[in-house]
Amino acid sequence: MAARKNLVIVGGCGHVGLPLGIVLASRGLSVALLDIDAAKVATINAGQMPFRENGAEPVLQQVLGSTLKATTDSNCLRSADIVITVVGTPVDRHLNPTVNELYNNVDGLLQHIQDGTLLVLRSTVSPGVTKLVYQRIQSLKRDIDVAFCPERIAEGNAMEELVNLPQIVSAFEPAAMQRARDLFLTIAPTVIELSPLEAELAKLFTNSWRYLNFAISNQFYMLAEMYGLDFYRIHDAVTRDYPRMRSFARAGFAAGPCLLKDTLQLSAFSGNNFFLGHAAMLVNEGLPNFVVSQLRSLDLATKTVAILGMAFKGESDDKRDSLSYKVMKLLELEAREVLCTDPYVPDARLVPLEEALGRAEIIILGAPHSVYRDLPIPPEKVVIDIWNYWPERHRESAQPAVALAAGEVHS
Ligand SMILES: NC(=O)c1ccc[n+]([C@@H]2O[C@H](COP(=O)([O-])OP(=O)(O)OC[C@H]3O[C@@H](n4cnc5c(N)ncnc54)[C@H](O)[C@@H]3O)[C@@H](O)[C@H]2O)c1
Repeated sequence: MAARKNLVIVGGCGHVGLPLGIVLASRGLSVALLDIDAAKVATINAGQMPFRENGAEPVLQQVLGSTLKATTDSNCLRSADIVITVVGTPVDRHLNPTVNELYNNVDGLLQHIQDGTLLVLRSTVSPGVTKLVYQRIQSLKRDIDVAFCPERIAEGNAMEELVNLPQIVSAFEPAAMQRARDLFLTIAPTVIELSPLEAELAKLFTNSWRYLNFAISNQFYMLAEMYGLDFYRIHDAVTRDYPRMRSFARAGFAAGPCLLKDTLQLSAFSGNNFFLGHAAMLVNEGLPNFVVSQLRSLDLATKTVAILGMAFKGESDDKRDSLSYKVMKLLELEAREVLCTDPYVPDARLVPLEEALGRAEIIILGAPHSVYRDLPIPPEKVVIDIWNYWPERHRESAQPAVALAAGEVHS
């Protein structure tokens, strides 16, 4: 029988690393989740997920202790056949990718990993980073295969998507490509081979494309609502039985740790000539300002406002870069009081749903969690529902139709 492969995922307790590690462990690989966050390591080793991810916890409990463990000890790298790194790649305060952080992190790993290892970059990286890592390894005369295989899951659906979606794999050398292909074929039905630069762009195109599409819908939403029209009546009219508009997204906060960041990465790569990306950022990041502008005619200084859902999207407990927090920040300057609530997000500032609903005169739906679907909201309350999550309420409620100057929208 072939020896079980040892695999280490660096950043393995995060949203990308953990589901991937669980799925790989469930396919018989021996997986160590290496992370600097000792609290998450302890939670996982106790059989619990540190965040919401559909269907992950039962599989975690099956593989834990047999083919999966979490650790803070980087010594596990020494016996690894395969190392996958998924540490984050944020943008800095100049809105540029922090290439150095990932590069230095990989450089640190090289001190521990042995020759003969396959090193897979799985984070979303700035174009050219895979080549930098490859060249660094060559300059050190190390015999380490390098591949870039971008993660494409949507948080919450990782367990399903990892095993059903095609996996993009890329490498400079045929041997590395073969190893990356073999690795991902243990979990996915198909792999698609690209060159590393193509794969880096493929990932950024995917997220930027989604971000641009949300911006189109959000811009149209603001246009319609500025003139007191119900965007969703128009959305329904143009999408119903009309195939060419099938991809017309609904409006909503386009936020979270990836879409804006990756649009900015593409923008930096383009030498700040990615006009569509910048325009999308103005629109999507301007939507909270628009929501607040819509409410100004209601004498906000005398009103309590509740924001329902602080996660960056429905059913999630992830508040990273959530636009609900931007709405909160804006309203704190203008409203009498802002009450925020969320059933999943851990945040000491949040209040129970009943309190938010009971005390607020204005209710803003920040994230469409399914627990909000059938909420009994008294008819006298003003409701702002950019998602059209409560279509009945949307039609009935007298939205404040405020004619705004165009410049106010993205102030
Ligand atoms: N979240 C998503 O849905 C998603 C989807 C596709 C791609 N990505 C990309 O994947 C990358 C990771 O995103 P994420 O959402 O998993 O982030 P995350 O913050 O959830 O996870 C990153 C993990 O890395 C750990 N970490 C940080 N520095 C470390 C180090 N030096 N050594 C070991 N562990 C370290 C952190 O403690 C954390 O647990 C990003 O580049 C992101 O853009 C994310």
